[in-house]
Amino acid sequence: MIKVLFVCLGNICRSPMAEYIFKNMVEKEKLQDNFYIDSAATSSEESGNPIYYAAREKLNKMHIKCGNHTSRKITKEDYQKFDYIIAMEEKNIINIKKIVGEDKENKIYKLLDFSSDPRDIQDPWYTGDFDKAYNDIVKGLEGFIKYLKERNEKL
Ligand code: 4NP
Repeated sequence: MIKVLFVCLGNICRSPMAEYIFKNMVEKEKLQDNFYIDSAATSSEESGNPIYYAAREKLNKMHIKCGNHTSRKITKEDYQKFDYIIAMEEKNIINIKKIVGEDKENKIYKLLDFSSDPRDIQDPWYTGDFDKAYNDIVKGLEGFIKYLKERNEKL
Protein backbone atom coordinates (compact mmCIF):
# COMPACT_ATOMS: atom_id res chain seq x y z
CA MET A 1 0.00 0.00 0.00
CA ILE A 2 1.43 3.36 -1.06
CA LYS A 3 0.24 6.23 1.11
CA VAL A 4 0.15 9.62 -0.57
CA LEU A 5 -0.66 12.98 1.01
CA PHE A 6 -1.14 16.04 -1.20
CA VAL A 7 -0.51 19.36 0.50
CA CYS A 8 -1.24 23.02 -0.27
CA LEU A 9 -1.87 26.17 1.75
CA GLY A 10 -5.62 25.98 2.36
CA ASN A 11 -6.58 22.38 1.40
CA ILE A 12 -9.68 23.65 -0.38
CA CYS A 13 -8.34 24.11 -3.95
CA ARG A 14 -5.14 22.48 -5.25
CA SER A 15 -4.51 19.60 -2.85
CA PRO A 16 -8.09 18.24 -2.82
CA MET A 17 -8.11 18.61 -6.64
CA ALA A 18 -4.91 16.53 -6.73
CA GLU A 19 -6.46 14.02 -4.28
CA TYR A 20 -9.59 13.45 -6.38
CA ILE A 21 -7.84 13.52 -9.75
CA PHE A 22 -5.28 10.99 -8.51
CA LYS A 23 -8.02 8.77 -7.03
CA ASN A 24 -9.74 8.87 -10.43
CA MET A 25 -6.49 8.01 -12.26
CA VAL A 26 -5.68 5.00 -10.08
CA GLU A 27 -9.30 3.77 -10.28
CA LYS A 28 -9.11 3.91 -14.08
CA GLU A 29 -6.01 1.67 -13.90
CA LYS A 30 -7.70 -0.55 -11.28
CA LEU A 31 -4.91 0.26 -8.85
CA GLN A 32 -7.08 1.81 -6.15
CA ASP A 33 -6.47 -1.03 -3.65
CA ASN A 34 -2.77 -0.26 -3.73
CA PHE A 35 -3.15 3.31 -2.56
CA TYR A 36 -4.27 5.33 0.42
CA ILE A 37 -4.74 8.94 -0.76
CA ASP A 38 -5.49 12.04 1.30
CA SER A 39 -4.80 15.79 1.32
CA ALA A 40 -4.02 18.43 3.92
CA ALA A 41 -3.20 22.12 4.46
CA THR A 42 -0.22 23.91 5.90
CA SER A 43 -2.53 26.49 7.49
CA SER A 44 -5.64 26.14 9.64
CA GLU A 45 -7.29 29.07 7.83
CA GLU A 46 -9.88 26.86 6.10
CA SER A 47 -10.04 23.98 8.62
CA GLY A 48 -13.37 22.17 8.43
CA ASN A 49 -14.35 23.80 5.13
CA PRO A 50 -15.21 21.75 2.04
CA ILE A 51 -13.46 21.93 -1.33
CA TYR A 52 -13.95 25.38 -2.90
CA TYR A 53 -16.93 25.52 -5.27
CA ALA A 54 -14.85 26.53 -8.32
CA ALA A 55 -12.50 23.58 -7.78
CA ARG A 56 -15.49 21.26 -7.41
CA GLU A 57 -17.09 22.70 -10.55
CA LYS A 58 -13.93 22.10 -12.56
CA LEU A 59 -13.71 18.50 -11.33
CA ASN A 60 -17.42 17.93 -12.08
CA LYS A 61 -16.89 19.27 -15.59
CA MET A 62 -14.07 16.77 -16.06
CA HIS A 63 -16.31 13.95 -14.69
CA ILE A 64 -14.17 13.47 -11.62
CA LYS A 65 -16.15 12.75 -8.52
CA CYS A 66 -15.48 14.62 -5.29
CA GLY A 67 -15.84 13.04 -1.89
CA ASN A 68 -16.87 14.93 1.20
CA HIS A 69 -13.36 15.95 2.17
CA THR A 70 -13.03 18.90 4.53
CA SER A 71 -9.87 20.92 5.07
CA ARG A 72 -7.48 19.77 7.76
CA LYS A 73 -4.01 20.92 8.72
CA ILE A 74 -1.09 18.50 8.29
CA THR A 75 0.24 17.03 11.57
CA LYS A 76 3.62 15.75 12.70
CA GLU A 77 2.11 12.23 12.74
CA ASP A 78 1.32 12.49 9.01
CA TYR A 79 5.04 12.37 8.30
CA GLN A 80 5.26 8.84 9.71
CA LYS A 81 1.93 7.75 8.29
CA PHE A 82 2.55 8.69 4.63
CA ASP A 83 5.17 7.52 2.10
CA TYR A 84 4.86 10.50 -0.24
CA ILE A 85 4.04 14.02 0.90
CA ILE A 86 3.51 16.03 -2.26
CA ALA A 87 3.37 19.81 -2.14
CA MET A 88 2.08 22.22 -4.77
CA GLU A 89 4.73 24.90 -4.34
CA GLU A 90 8.05 25.61 -2.66
CA LYS A 91 6.43 27.68 0.11
CA ASN A 92 4.34 24.64 1.08
CA ILE A 93 7.54 22.61 1.57
CA ILE A 94 9.01 25.24 3.90
CA ASN A 95 5.78 25.27 5.91
CA ILE A 96 5.44 21.46 5.97
CA LYS A 97 8.94 21.21 7.46
CA LYS A 98 8.03 23.76 10.14
CA ILE A 99 5.27 21.36 11.22
CA VAL A 100 6.83 17.91 10.73
CA GLY A 101 10.52 18.75 11.17
CA GLU A 102 13.40 17.84 8.85
CA ASP A 103 12.64 15.52 5.92
CA LYS A 104 14.95 12.76 7.18
CA GLU A 105 13.30 10.04 5.09
CA ASN A 106 13.10 12.10 1.87
CA LYS A 107 9.33 11.87 1.65
CA ILE A 108 8.57 15.47 0.69
CA TYR A 109 8.24 16.32 -3.00
CA LYS A 110 6.85 19.09 -5.19
CA LEU A 111 4.22 17.83 -7.64
CA LEU A 112 5.61 19.32 -10.86
CA ASP A 113 9.09 17.96 -10.04
CA PHE A 114 7.66 14.68 -11.38
CA SER A 115 7.02 16.40 -14.74
CA SER A 116 9.29 17.74 -17.47
CA ASP A 117 8.29 21.25 -16.36
CA PRO A 118 9.35 21.50 -12.70
CA ARG A 119 7.94 24.62 -11.03
CA ASP A 120 5.32 25.77 -8.54
CA ILE A 121 1.61 25.35 -9.23
CA GLN A 122 0.07 28.79 -8.84
CA ASP A 123 -2.73 29.16 -6.34
CA PRO A 124 -6.08 29.42 -8.17
CA TRP A 125 -7.56 30.90 -5.01
CA TYR A 126 -5.61 34.03 -5.99
CA THR A 127 -5.32 33.68 -9.78
CA GLY A 128 -8.90 32.48 -10.37
CA ASP A 129 -7.49 30.15 -13.05
CA PHE A 130 -8.82 26.70 -12.16
CA ASP A 131 -8.25 25.39 -15.70
CA LYS A 132 -4.51 26.05 -15.44
CA ALA A 133 -4.35 24.57 -11.92
CA TYR A 134 -6.18 21.46 -13.18
CA ASN A 135 -3.86 21.04 -16.20
CA ASP A 136 -0.74 21.50 -14.06
CA ILE A 137 -1.98 19.02 -11.47
CA VAL A 138 -2.74 16.40 -14.14
CA LYS A 139 0.73 16.90 -15.65
CA GLY A 140 2.36 16.38 -12.24
CA LEU A 141 0.24 13.33 -11.40
CA GLU A 142 0.96 11.66 -14.72
CA GLY A 143 4.66 12.15 -13.99
CA PHE A 144 4.19 10.76 -10.48
CA ILE A 145 2.50 7.56 -11.72
CA LYS A 146 5.27 7.13 -14.30
CA TYR A 147 7.87 7.62 -11.55
CA LEU A 148 6.21 4.96 -9.37
CA LYS A 149 6.08 2.51 -12.25
CA GLU A 150 9.72 3.13 -13.17
CA ARG A 151 10.71 2.53 -9.55
CA ASN A 152 8.77 -0.74 -9.69
CA GLU A 153 6.72 0.24 -6.70
CA LYS A 154 4.30 -2.60 -5.98
CA LEU A 155 1.40 -1.39 -8.11
P1 4NP B 1 -5.23 26.22 -1.83
O1 4NP B 1 -5.83 27.69 -2.00
O2 4NP B 1 -3.96 26.36 -1.03
O3 4NP B 1 -4.96 25.76 -3.23
O4 4NP B 1 -6.30 25.42 -1.12
C1 4NP B 1 -6.09 28.54 -0.90
C2 4NP B 1 -7.36 28.58 -0.37
C3 4NP B 1 -7.64 29.40 0.72
C4 4NP B 1 -6.63 30.18 1.25
C5 4NP B 1 -5.36 30.12 0.72
C6 4NP B 1 -5.09 29.29 -0.35
N1 4NP B 1 -6.89 31.04 2.34
O5 4NP B 1 -5.97 31.68 2.82
O6 4NP B 1 -8.02 31.08 2.81
